[in-house]
Amino acid sequence: MVSLASSKASFMLQISIIASLLIVASAGNFYQDVDENFGDQRFKILEGGQLLTLSLDKLSGSGFQSKNEYIFGRFDMQLKLIPGNSAGTVTTFYLSSQREAHDEIDFEFLGNSSGQPYTVHTNVYVQGKGGKEQQFRLWFDPTTSFHTYSIVWNSQRIIFLVDNIPIRAFNNQESIGVPFPNNQAMRVYCSLWNADDWATEGGRVKTDWTNAPLLVTYRNFNPNGCVKSPGSSTCGSTNSLNNDQAWQTQGLDGNGRNRLRWVQQKYMIYNYCTDASRFPQGFPPECKGSRF
Ligand SMILES: *[C@@H]1O[C@H](CO)[C@@H](O)[C@H](O)[C@H]1NC(C)=O
Repeated sequence: MVSLASSKASFMLQISIIASLLIVASAGNFYQDVDENFGDQRFKILEGGQLLTLSLDKLSGSGFQSKNEYIFGRFDMQLKLIPGNSAGTVTTFYLSSQREAHDEIDFEFLGNSSGQPYTVHTNVYVQGKGGKEQQFRLWFDPTTSFHTYSIVWNSQRIIFLVDNIPIRAFNNQESIGVPFPNNQAMRVYCSLWNADDWATEGGRVKTDWTNAPLLVTYRNFNPNGCVKSPGSSTCGSTNSLNNDQAWQTQGLDGNGRNRLRWVQQKYMIYNYCTDASRFPQGFPPECKGSRF
């Protein structure tokens, strides 16, 4: 005779097995989701599509792009950055449209000498114009394990998140004349390249090739967005396997605003909105008022 307690326990076990299967199923597969766009054999998909590595050597870096183009969405990627001496390198995860006056939403990771912190560089371009840089340190070592970096892009705002903690929000303020990216579809791009002419201390610290190839690992790409159907400028289907549409209206609640404030106070190292030397005629309109 099975006691009530143990049948309940086995029911709970089944539920948790089903839940973990769903999580595995909803993590993307790199074979299905992306194409190499430079670097040839430096781009590698491993473990049946679960893992992807980009490598950089003296001759070239490497990169890939999503097969789909999206009009809004939430894009999660887990990255493990180059361990040890990563000075001179740039690792990226960003959205970009293809037209000349392009839109772009950037996460860039600027490497550093061994033991020195990475810089997380963020920017937003609209119709070819960027200049909205904010930079951060991380509250963990991004080279020893995977962490999740996310871009939420909906019609009201863009949110950059690290391990689900918002580090930056860029609101749609078209009503006061601030351009917002909302009429060009974008692909997801990732790359690893040598930028030792500027990336680390303004180009003073060069890439150390003795440990080349330098390697970045990506996993759990989850493009949860509105997929642009070919030949149309509108959104065809949403390719969300878990059918989670929360990104469409995602914003910041009180808790989110508190966390954003915590990151901006403790970890922000550059903000264009406080760089008076760049804006002798006055700050851009989105810089006025609340930063959150
Ligand atoms: C590298 O580390 C130094 C020393 O901590 C720091 O001042 C510099 O901003 C770092 N560079 C980057 C690109 O993060």
